[in-house]
Amino acid sequence: MGPPGAGKGTQGARLAEWLGVPRFSTGDMLREARRAGTELGERARRYMDAGELVPDEVILDLIDETLRGADASRGFILDGFPRTETQAEGLGDVLARRGESLDAVVDLQVPEEELVRRLSARRVCPECGAVWSAEELESGEEGIPCPECSAGVEQREDDRPETVRRRLEVYRTQTEPVLAWYAASDVPVVAVPGTGPVSEVQRRLRERLTEGAET
Ligand code: AP5
Repeated sequence: MGPPGAGKGTQGARLAEWLGVPRFSTGDMLREARRAGTELGERARRYMDAGELVPDEVILDLIDETLRGADASRGFILDGFPRTETQAEGLGDVLARRGESLDAVVDLQVPEEELVRRLSARRVCPECGAVWSAEELESGEEGIPCPECSAGVEQREDDRPETVRRRLEVYRTQTEPVLAWYAASDVPVVAVPGTGPVSEVQRRLRERLTEGAET
């Protein structure tokens, strides 16, 4: 968990590779559904573009279906889910049916001014899905070639300043309370500073999660 731009995708992908488990990002799944023009994608579009959360029942069905279809036998990382207490409760039910439970909830912490800076600089590749910061590219202009596959990079529709403000507000009011909800449960909540180089944040994460596994 973490606010928009905290690095959930960046760190989650590295953590998943290290652990050899799949990563399920509800944001990525919804964007994929939009690209594919499915009913789910069409339903999610207006919420995402406004910086609002997609309704809980839609997200819970999506997660349930994804976990049923995936090889999640060695575990998995959830990125950007759950985002409301209803989703956290629903996840608990889905996991209980599977005879599983969460090992930890990660709270990736980044100050708001840094989040705004990162989101305004984020560029994504519509072809290969790579995520860049404008500083890693020749410039921040849209259409600059993706270093991975040469397609022109774009700014995410919801990374425009007015939508970013709403997403941050939605995080504070609807998602942050989920951390307190978990803190009152028996799932360990691991707070990790998300600032500094990507590799340093990843090192901290691995260290904290390994400590958790040993205690
Ligand atoms: P989603 O895609 O999950 O968006 P988000 O939570 O707002 O998170 P982001 O993807 O913006 O950021 P991130 O934390 O993954 O950061 P990243 O690694 O990319 O969701 C989008 C929308 O879908 C939601 O608004 C909602 O409408 C809907 N949705 C999704 N899940 C839902 C759910 N469960 N319920 C209801 N609705 C849902 O990094 C950001 C940038 O910073 C990148 O450019 C990266 O290169 C850079 N960066 C990363 N780490 C560092 C670092 N250490 N230093 C400098 N730059 C860094």
